[in-house]
Amino acid sequence: MFDTKFHYPTVTSTNDVAKELLSSGQYTNLVVSANEQTKGRGRSGNVWDSPVSVNLYMSFGLRHLSEQKLDHLLTYQAAGCLSVYGAVKELFPSLDVKIKYPNDVYLSSKATEGKIAGVLVENEFSGSQCISSIIGIGLNINQGSFPADIQNKATSLKIALERELVYEEILKLQVLITERFSDYAQKKWVEMYPLWKNILKLRGKTVQHDGKDYVVEDVLNTGQVVLTHQHPNENSATITISPNQSLTYVP
Ligand code: BTN
Repeated sequence: MFDTKFHYPTVTSTNDVAKELLSSGQYTNLVVSANEQTKGRGRSGNVWDSPVSVNLYMSFGLRHLSEQKLDHLLTYQAAGCLSVYGAVKELFPSLDVKIKYPNDVYLSSKATEGKIAGVLVENEFSGSQCISSIIGIGLNINQGSFPADIQNKATSLKIALERELVYEEILKLQVLITERFSDYAQKKWVEMYPLWKNILKLRGKTVQHDGKDYVVEDVLNTGQVVLTHQHPNENSATITISPNQSLTYVP
């Protein structure tokens, strides 16, 4: 599905380049990767730290030739994180890998605990039609230290495994992620939803939202999470969180 591949030494963001290439109309599916990003971005307007030649920065681009069901866009979100999750587990079975809602990949080992990968999905609409989707994946591989604002939550495979990964391993991860993404991206949301939900293991967990503690009641097939807040001085209240809102918890 992703036979058209582009690799660059430096880009602003692989999502930007994938979007630009798709808009030329020459390609329907493509994958863009780079050694370095000068304006790597994350969800919620965050910067994605993208130093040269240590990590994986890649974006899948899909130009939709037929009408996309809106729930299929949730498939792309889940496909991104499940692909990284599966690829890392396959190559390094000793690592404890988890997905944090909605699509962050975390790991814990005796050496470290934290976020190793994130997924940024950007859909382009013409009226109510989604005409293209870009799924950007950043995976921290050989990064040894992180900027002050994320140093307590970000980590890398190198820190977890206590050794540098060699070029062949990095390439293998990229190939495995691409194979898995190609497979997942073609699945209907009705198939993807249980896979994603089962790996999230959120039900019954205590999470924080807007500074308050909640218990997760359920993860819905709309991608939303239902939370119940129980406080001695307040009535218990149920609220619903969307994938673009933040939940704080340790996966
Ligand atoms: C997040 O967790 O906030 C999402 C991070 C996504 C980062 C990747 S790196 C490749 C692609 N290009 C970008 O600018 N962002 C995504």
